[in-house]
Amino acid sequence: MKLSQFGTKFCAPTGIVELMDDLGTALNENPDMIFMGGGNPGRIPEAEAIFKARLETVLADPQQLHSLMGIYQSPQGDKVFREQIAGLLKKEFGWDLSERNIAISNGSQSAFFILYNMLAGAMPDGSNRSIHLPLAPEYIGYGDIGLTRDFFTATRPEIELMDNNLFKYHVDFSKLEVTDKTGALCVSRPTNPTGNVLTDREIEHLDEIALAADIPLIIDGAYGLPFPGIIFNDAKPHWNENTVLVLSLSKLGLPGVRTGIIVAREDIVQGYSNANTVVNLACGNLGPTIARELFSSGEILTLSNNLVKPFYKQRAQQAVDWFRAELGSLPYRIHSPEGAIFLWLWFEGLPITSQELYQRLKERGVLVVPGHNFFPGMDASWQHQQECIRVSYAQDGNTVKQGIEIIAEEVAKAYAA
Ligand SMILES: Cc1ncc(COP(=O)(O)O)c(C=O)c1O
Repeated sequence: MKLSQFGTKFCAPTGIVELMDDLGTALNENPDMIFMGGGNPGRIPEAEAIFKARLETVLADPQQLHSLMGIYQSPQGDKVFREQIAGLLKKEFGWDLSERNIAISNGSQSAFFILYNMLAGAMPDGSNRSIHLPLAPEYIGYGDIGLTRDFFTATRPEIELMDNNLFKYHVDFSKLEVTDKTGALCVSRPTNPTGNVLTDREIEHLDEIALAADIPLIIDGAYGLPFPGIIFNDAKPHWNENTVLVLSLSKLGLPGVRTGIIVAREDIVQGYSNANTVVNLACGNLGPTIARELFSSGEILTLSNNLVKPFYKQRAQQAVDWFRAELGSLPYRIHSPEGAIFLWLWFEGLPITSQELYQRLKERGVLVVPGHNFFPGMDASWQHQQECIRVSYAQDGNTVKQGIEIIAEEVAKAYAA
């Protein structure tokens, strides 16, 4: 097969392809694998019951069933659903927006593909722009999303060493460089892979920098605010006309329905919707159908705060305790677990690469994600990139505990060799 430039780039096996391949094999074909790899959310029975009840109501009503299955959504997404989202955000946070500030996507991943390529890459005047990540490590799924090369730039973070083998990344504003080649700033909050939650002050500062440079600040809230709210401190949601907030229903427990939500200025939403029509024609109806009532009643927020957040908070603490017990005096550090569904472990001076550690763990039946994949936009010279792994704690407790024991054994072997 003769591939185009697009084909050569997008048909290649990349980090996110390997990760989703592992995820699919582990969850669908080889269930004995201890799955601590991809970002599949855990199962929360009470949340599943809410989604099931909603679906049953729809199935019992021929009109609603027809709307679910037999009708294309409008390009920007179901109008009633968008009104409900805008209404809730306005009421709860005072954000000045209407349904014209909301667009729906088939999962937030596809929204990022369009948004990023709208704002960066080859520009009409022949210049090139990049998306800047003010703090890497960042989400593996951005890495290969750009249509052109050198699509991302990133700033190396400051590292704060904390007590009890913890550490935390901070945006290093002294090194953050925004130029006329920067198309947008983007942060995931909480950050995948680290569970870092950029502070309100960091977000305000990034917002000021983006505004001054006349570029958007994109906040990827897949795990964050206001829903699914997997944040263990009191960070505040952020949006204004210069912010593109990208949300998702996935981490509430609905990754299979593939629904993302974009909250942005009207011209950005309109541009996005036109491009989304070309690529997807329309978005799926299932997510909006299940979630509609949750938005109109505000239950999406209580569900997030009362079920989803406590579930992961407890898991995170438990996983940290298990790691501490198993890793003992080995030279390890854990990123301060502030949100999301992962722990990010740093093994300083690890004699093998993170890829080698991943391979050895895979042979032992444990899937994690090697850390070097999470540095889009950064050259490979920083040894730290080879010393980290991301471990999901979303699966049930016994599975996570077993996985942690095996990880500790393999890390101990690597240091001892
Ligand atoms: C930080 C982050 N952003 C975006 C996504 C994409 O999620 P989805 O396409 O399911 O909305 C993920 C998925 O794991 C993620 O971790």
